[in-house]
Amino acid sequence: MKIFLLAILLLIELNANDYIKNNTCKACHPTIYSEFYNSSHRKASIFEDPIHKAVWDLHPNKQKGSYTCAKCHTPSDLELLKKLKENKKALPIKNIVQTHEAISCVYCHSIKSIEKHEKVNTNILTKEKKVFFAANEENKELKDKKYKDEVSMFGMMKKTSGSPYHTIDYSNEDFYTGKMCMGCHQKLQNNNNFDLCRVDMKGAQNEEKNCITCHMPKVKGTATSIKITDTHRFHGFASASNNQDLLTKYVKIKFKEKSDNFEIAIKNESSHNLFLQPLRLAQLRVNVLRGDKRIKLDTKSFMRIIGKDGKPTMPWLANSVVKNNMIKANENRVITYDFKLKANDSIEVVFGYYKVNPKMWKKLKLENDKKSTKFNILKSEFYKSSK
Ligand code: HEC
Ligand code: HEC
Ligand code: HEC
Ligand code: HEC
Ligand code: HEC
Repeated sequence: MKIFLLAILLLIELNANDYIKNNTCKACHPTIYSEFYNSSHRKASIFEDPIHKAVWDLHPNKQKGSYTCAKCHTPSDLELLKKLKENKKALPIKNIVQTHEAISCVYCHSIKSIEKHEKVNTNILTKEKKVFFAANEENKELKDKKYKDEVSMFGMMKKTSGSPYHTIDYSNEDFYTGKMCMGCHQKLQNNNNFDLCRVDMKGAQNEEKNCITCHMPKVKGTATSIKITDTHRFHGFASASNNQDLLTKYVKIKFKEKSDNFEIAIKNESSHNLFLQPLRLAQLRVNVLRGDKRIKLDTKSFMRIIGKDGKPTMPWLANSVVKNNMIKANENRVITYDFKLKANDSIEVVFGYYKVNPKMWKKLKLENDKKSTKFNILKSEFYKSSK
């Protein structure tokens, strides 16, 4: 009996040690690895993201010793997830997983499907080891691409195909539509059954335009150091504060001059509301340059503030939307400036955002944090009056 128990324990132990580190992938996918290293997915833990830490520090679950954020922020930390599942004290400990691979290469490429729930979805992972899902338009049916030598038609050339380290499964539809992102990104509700965040499923339905095509566009450089390709999917996960140049084409700004005033229109071509996190504050800043004068016009702010009884609160207390003028999916928002332009006036338009609404800096003790207090510019344009 004792030996039997020991064998089981050993098996569990072996499974735990089976954990594959991102460094393994780095060897053959160096470019993708370095992009990932600078991405918010690598930095999703409290040790690497000061904003996440600031909110966590005030969260009631911290007192209860239950880091429920792990499900999405550090799903690669298997030890922590296990403790959570067993309802044991589960607080993040600074280790290599938390700091280097909060959401790891293996984790994402193992997402088999997503299970939809009321409050928060669940990622279902494949149980097979070293089998990774990926997309390949020409090979959609291929479930188990293995490493092999391929001899060309006349036996003149030998070429290897597949990866010497792992098997690839190209048959998972969710890697073509972006649905694999939605286990973590679609929604999050608090205990009041109130939506803290929600992303429309529309953005993860077709292959032409989805989360992957916009946030992971094909960029120059090889996907592997073994089989050389011209391009690879960008793994820095473009956002408004990280490689924003890859996304600016989906936000269009237009200027229209009228006799007594002028209009600025912002068109959001993304499939979701422009900003999703309730902490964000977007702003449109307009200056008119007249001679050597710079006339500052009223700044327009866009936000979705959540709270209770008409007052903003922390997310766990919120049960309603206090204010929402965020630019919606596919909306063209037109803002009129009651300002009469003159000949030779130039109009300077800047559209950007704060990761953390300045009203929250003090409360979250982030007033000295650069990332939180920086105004990130998504787009800036310059127009001339045609008068
Ligand atoms: C020994 C080298 C090697 C290692 C280590 C390695 N890979 Fe690969 N990988 C390759 C090669 C080569 C290909 C290209 C295979 C092909 O297209 O024929 C590839 C392809 C892939 C693809 C699919 C690309 C596509 O669209 O065809 C994914 C996803 C992937 N690797 C993920 C990983 C992850 C995650 C790790 C770390 C756990 C990893 N790889 C480790 C060599 C490696
Ligand atoms: C259902 C998955 C999920 C869970 C559970 C979750 N988050 Fe998040 N969180 C996300 C996603 C996805 C983002 C990025 C969304 C965005 O930027 O719009 C995010 C972003 C954040 C941000 C903004 C980070 C930044 O750098 O601006 C904070 C703060 C945050 N989460 C706090 C928490 C806390 C605290 C918990 C646990 C009490 C938690 N989250 C649980 C999915 C989740
Ligand atoms: C395991 C859960 C998970 C999966 C799967 C996932 N994400 Fe994320 N994502 C997060 C979390 C958590 C954050 C916020 C990290 C932080 O800043 O603390 C985030 C942040 C981001 C951001 C940056 C947001 C910002 O405000 O800077 C983008 C863009 C993004 N994810 C896109 C994607 C795309 C596209 C996919 C699918 C290919 C994807 N994510 C899959 C959990 C996930
Ligand atoms: C947030 C989820 C996520 C993470 C983390 C992630 N990937 Fe990917 N990866 C994807 C998606 C989605 C695609 C696009 C579909 C496809 O081509 O397979 C992709 C594509 C790839 C490809 C094929 C690239 C191409 O251009 O054909 C390789 C190789 C790859 N990933 C390796 C890695 C490695 C190595 C890491 C870690 C350093 C990593 N991935 C981390 C989601 C992720
Ligand atoms: C047509 C292009 C497009 C598609 C499709 C798209 N996005 Fe976006 N996404 C954008 C743009 C543009 C922004 C806005 C500004 C920015 O953060 O750069 C953005 C912002 C985000 C942010 C950051 C929001 C914040 O509050 O900071 C996240 C997270 C995100 N997208 C996730 C997703 C997910 C998940 C999907 C798939 C369901 C998706 N996106 C589909 C273009 C797109």
